[in-house]
Amino acid sequence: MSAPTDRIRQINDEATDAIAAASSSEELEDLRVRHLGRKAELTTILRGISDLPADERGPVGKAGNEVRSSLEALISSRGAELDAAELSESLAGDRVDVTLPGSPAQAVGHLHLVTRTRRLIEDIMVGLGYRVLEGPEVEIDYYNFTALNHPPGHPARMEQDTFYVAPGSLSKAALDSARVASEKAEADGTATPDDELVVLRTHTSPMQVRAMEETEPPIFIAVPGKCYRRDTIDATHLPMFHQMEGLAVAEDITLADLQGTLREMLRGLFGPGREARMRPHFFPFTEPSVEFDVSCFRCDATGELADGSRCPLCKGIGWVEVGGAGMVDPNVFGFVEGHGYDPERVQGFAFGFGIERMAMLLHGVPDLRLFVENDVRVLEQFS
Ligand code: DAH
Repeated sequence: MSAPTDRIRQINDEATDAIAAASSSEELEDLRVRHLGRKAELTTILRGISDLPADERGPVGKAGNEVRSSLEALISSRGAELDAAELSESLAGDRVDVTLPGSPAQAVGHLHLVTRTRRLIEDIMVGLGYRVLEGPEVEIDYYNFTALNHPPGHPARMEQDTFYVAPGSLSKAALDSARVASEKAEADGTATPDDELVVLRTHTSPMQVRAMEETEPPIFIAVPGKCYRRDTIDATHLPMFHQMEGLAVAEDITLADLQGTLREMLRGLFGPGREARMRPHFFPFTEPSVEFDVSCFRCDATGELADGSRCPLCKGIGWVEVGGAGMVDPNVFGFVEGHGYDPERVQGFAFGFGIERMAMLLHGVPDLRLFVENDVRVLEQFS
């Protein structure tokens, strides 16, 4: 064996061991330059082949090129190993715990006052044995008006008071339900030309009828949700707001049960000493109808503050208006008679009120617009 071939073998053994032992990609790069670079011994040997005796050129060239490719392959696979190890080491070292609080700690958000008030009322109603239900905000005229005993031509049905929606924007399920409702109304002889119109619901009351269609009496439900009206925006009106509806139907329910229920609810909200008062009013879907008030919690119903001045909350009256209510009109039961609501057998009461209004009363918020402006200075006062 010729001297250059021996030397090539030696270089191969040395370099192979060194490559296997390389502990960093830098060290590996040094080895590559040393063994395969322009000034490497192996490169010099290969470059000098033409100076060798003719019979040695072939074997030396062959051995040299084999070692060269073998070392290149070893360097590249060892390089890949080292790169992977270095990457995972740096990932472990630089790991960020995204669950740690920031520095300085970021403020954590909280529920909106309207949401908190809604939940508070829901809790009270659940405590009284009511089930909480929600319903569609895009509603058909039949549920929003017809089945709630609003005759054709009722002012609430007019375009200047209600948002009408193109029926094409309804889901198929909602359209089917509109069709079923209007076919039924036609069969009952209660159909109105408006039955298939689609509205943004103007109150949560349509769920009274939807819920009675789903559940036989007795039924006790509370329905929170968004409502829409074509109101101009001011301190007490927004085109979108929230209501809470209550419906109780069973045998032998009386106005006294309504009075007791309202009183318990108002005590849960405004404090144990509060009373509920009902005043005669009119709603198409209740008979008799009332508006209900809570005894003023600012002046303890005296109408005067401690300094003798007139109470600004109740304006000296001692009562604060809260919502509407009444005994379910037998005509409304007529729309769900097929679901077990025989107007001769069951009675019930219903009530509804604005959730924003409750929040304003409870927290002294002077302007409805503050609830939708999202000014953090306002929001953070109610955490
Ligand atoms: N839906 C009525 C409104 O939006 C409020 C209301 C009044 C609801 C009387 C009722 C009720 O359930 O019995 O003005």
